[in-house]
Amino acid sequence: MSDLNSLKVRSIGEFSAELKMPGDKSISHRAAIIAGLSNGPCHIRNYLPSEDCLNTLRAMESLGVNCDYLASNDYGPTEVVVHGKGMRLTAPGEPIDCGNSGTGMRLLAGVLAGQEFESTLTGDESLSSRPMGRIMRPLESMGARIVGKGEDEGCAPLLFHGGNLVPIHYVMPMASAQVKSAVLLAALFAPGKTTVEQPAQTRDHTERMLAQFQVRSICNGNEITIDGGQVPVAIDIDIPGDISSAAFWIVATAAKRNSNLLIQNVGLNPTRTALLGVLQRMGATIRNTVHSPDEMGEPVGNLKVQGGELCGTEIREDEIPNLIDEIPVLAVAGALARGKMTIRNASELRVKESDRITTVVDNLRAMGADVTEHDDGMSVVGGNQLHGTTLDCFGDHRIAMAFAIAGLFAEGETVIRNTECIATSYPGFGKDLDQIRGQ
Ligand code: S3P
Repeated sequence: MSDLNSLKVRSIGEFSAELKMPGDKSISHRAAIIAGLSNGPCHIRNYLPSEDCLNTLRAMESLGVNCDYLASNDYGPTEVVVHGKGMRLTAPGEPIDCGNSGTGMRLLAGVLAGQEFESTLTGDESLSSRPMGRIMRPLESMGARIVGKGEDEGCAPLLFHGGNLVPIHYVMPMASAQVKSAVLLAALFAPGKTTVEQPAQTRDHTERMLAQFQVRSICNGNEITIDGGQVPVAIDIDIPGDISSAAFWIVATAAKRNSNLLIQNVGLNPTRTALLGVLQRMGATIRNTVHSPDEMGEPVGNLKVQGGELCGTEIREDEIPNLIDEIPVLAVAGALARGKMTIRNASELRVKESDRITTVVDNLRAMGADVTEHDDGMSVVGGNQLHGTTLDCFGDHRIAMAFAIAGLFAEGETVIRNTECIATSYPGFGKDLDQIRGQ
């Protein structure tokens, strides 16, 4: 049994499960924002009722967008009609709180950069220490004035004096979908052509969603060009299940002999599924069937996983941006596999909700794994029996969930403390964990 603030996990035997994932976090943020900018009502289904995504909906409401909440589950609203304001937002009465969400803050920054009124974005302690210079620089070169009022330079709270943007050609120094999306959203408010060049492909949900809202853009390799002044045309949106939430169960099943998992209606956008390729290389049996609605819609499908014995692998540099959020649980898979897993070129992990290189390495070591920390990643030599112990999750939802999965393979009891942060992305995780362990 698990109380509210800690998760207690013991090893389990083989299992067969069928799970439904909550709505995709990245797509939920974008749906709330782009629907709010559109020219009319948008009916959104399977919205993720996590704290991060609810903060983004509230942010749009504070900018004058009306929302009708049609249906909820145990955690919050899942079906909402967002009444788009046709790009005409109004000044918020108070600072907008993005909570723990880097995606919420960076995407909203793109929108606020385009507004003539003043506004402020704030966040919790973790978010207030994360780098915002990466979005401030391009948005400032478009003409916005943004002041980072945090203790550290370039950190939140962020004060915006926006409006009168000009288009830019921006060469992104890092592979970040959040930075790309901030510039693309600001570009809607800048008359003329804005181009963003990415050093590598990153998740393309913003481009796909803008196209669905009939906003024209040109994608040429890793370069995207968009014409400012377009108003997104309202549509209804069905949000697929979140593959990053599914990742915990996919790893648990892949590493557990004679176990089976079926997940239906999960997002299978190729910019998000690198985890599946890596696990297949490690020996996992994973089958997926994609039924994409149309070319620019989000690919959705079913996933079947069969458990067996895994072996280590090297994660390629080009795979990193497309599995960056799955690395904590992938490192757990590495500890459960035979041989060595190497993760390099992943220094972005150091500026996530926690420093995910240090927090993963420390927790794996505490459980008895053989792991070496690198500046830009880690190496894990699998095969040591993991031992249950008491772990912190450092306020990081993905660390909490990854180590709950590790606990399913450990001798004795694993206790993960302060797990309330799980609600930022996957409020039903505890229930799904109970289903996997047959409770
Ligand atoms: C996200 C992009 C990624 C990812 C984050 C969600 C998004 O961050 O880690 O959880 O929805 O755009 P970066 O763009 O900073 O790599």
